[in-house]
Amino acid sequence: MQTDVLLGLQWGDEGKGKIVDVLTSNYDIIARFQGGPNAGHTLEFDGIKHVLHTIPSGIFHKGSINIIGNGVVIDPIIFENEIKSIDKLDMKISELLIAKKAHLILPTHKLLDAASEQAKGKNKIGSTLKGIGPTYMDKTGRNGLRVGDISAANFKDRYDKLKQKHIQILNFYDFDYEIWDLEEKWFASLETLKKFQHIESEHYLHKALKEGKKILAEGAQGTLLDIDFGSYPFVTSSNTITAGACTGLGISPNKIKDVFGIFKAYCTRVGSGPFPTELFDEVGKHMQKVGNEFGATTGRPRRCGWIDLPALKYAINVNGVTQLMMMKGDVISGLDKIKVCTHYHFNGEKINYLPFEANDGLIPIFEELPGWQEDLMQLQDLSDAPQSFHDYIRYLEKELETPISIVSVGPDRKQTFFR
Ligand code: GDP
Ligand code: IMO
Ligand code: MG
Repeated sequence: MQTDVLLGLQWGDEGKGKIVDVLTSNYDIIARFQGGPNAGHTLEFDGIKHVLHTIPSGIFHKGSINIIGNGVVIDPIIFENEIKSIDKLDMKISELLIAKKAHLILPTHKLLDAASEQAKGKNKIGSTLKGIGPTYMDKTGRNGLRVGDISAANFKDRYDKLKQKHIQILNFYDFDYEIWDLEEKWFASLETLKKFQHIESEHYLHKALKEGKKILAEGAQGTLLDIDFGSYPFVTSSNTITAGACTGLGISPNKIKDVFGIFKAYCTRVGSGPFPTELFDEVGKHMQKVGNEFGATTGRPRRCGWIDLPALKYAINVNGVTQLMMMKGDVISGLDKIKVCTHYHFNGEKINYLPFEANDGLIPIFEELPGWQEDLMQLQDLSDAPQSFHDYIRYLEKELETPISIVSVGPDRKQTFFR
């Protein structure tokens, strides 16, 4: 009986989609456990580049089963577009099942997201404007509509009631909006959602585990965006951590074996909020340009900076990471020095942990390591990598007290090494 969890340790976009795709052949079931179309998970193989938002990243492996779990919030319009763009590829894909308990993002949730951001002005979260916050608010406020409700006779009534409530809040915001077009599309796109089998994912997964099937739970966003443990309030509205896989799928903690924590060899963040190691110089620009650091969902430029060890250690502890995966090592090739943040200066003290006050006044303290010049994207074998790259990996393993089992040096499936 085995469930492994794969999730991001930084502020998202670590390369989760790529690695889930690489690992899918080892699993029977791939299940997304939280988040929604705020996520953009990029896969590259056979000359194809594809971005998934709601659909798990195992979809391109026929034979596996992909599940959208109850912890996910679904925008039927975006879901329909995802299905259409997968259909266009004309590939054999795996079976896709959807949890009845997954909540729906309504058109008015998106408007509320935009209205709330507008009202916050320069203190805005930098949300993806996909309606994530308002949908999870209705979930915890016990007002939400779920996939399993779509076929109920009173679905339209319940929809109208919730919409009216949203409109009252929108009036409070004094926010200009146009909903009718969006609403028509939304109801039409429910038809696509209905074509898929809706399941009680907790029963389905319990049975699968009993039958000895292997499950990989796919996270979205990253640990520092977690609603409880991230850089609140600059976070998303779900639990992005390992515990989120339990509540987002209905799997108990004792069924979880390995936790794969993914991180970039440097660090990025899209949207507002603290980022102690952020760079505003040529090195930051190098990371952004070479790493093509532009959001897969919104196209916004991602802020870039050096790796942050206290933040990574925090993420490893919160998640119980058993194996690390280091992504995008190729991007920091060609630099003379690699910097690693080992501590912070905070209130006149040197500290090695992420404090509650992390949103303000953390000044990073760096250690310098030698860089490497070689283009890692061309590597055929990890043993041919330059010595300073191996040294960087070993240094991180020692500091983080966790093995790095995968090293990625390019966006393609093939540019992946197991250690
Ligand atoms: P996710 O949200 O964690 O799935 O990550 P994203 O897809 O949003 O962002 C990761 C980006 O980096 C995508 O454009 C990937 O194609 C790309 N990528 C993944 N791994 C590597 C790597 O090792 N090197 C380079 N250069 N790009 C990578
Ligand atoms: P993946 O799964 C990076 C960020 C937004 C914003 C904050 C809140 O691709 O790694 P939200 O729309 O959730 O209310 O936005 O979270 N954010 C992400 N940043 N990767 C993501 O997902 C993200 N999903 C949300 O930029 O700062
Ligand atoms: Mg992404």
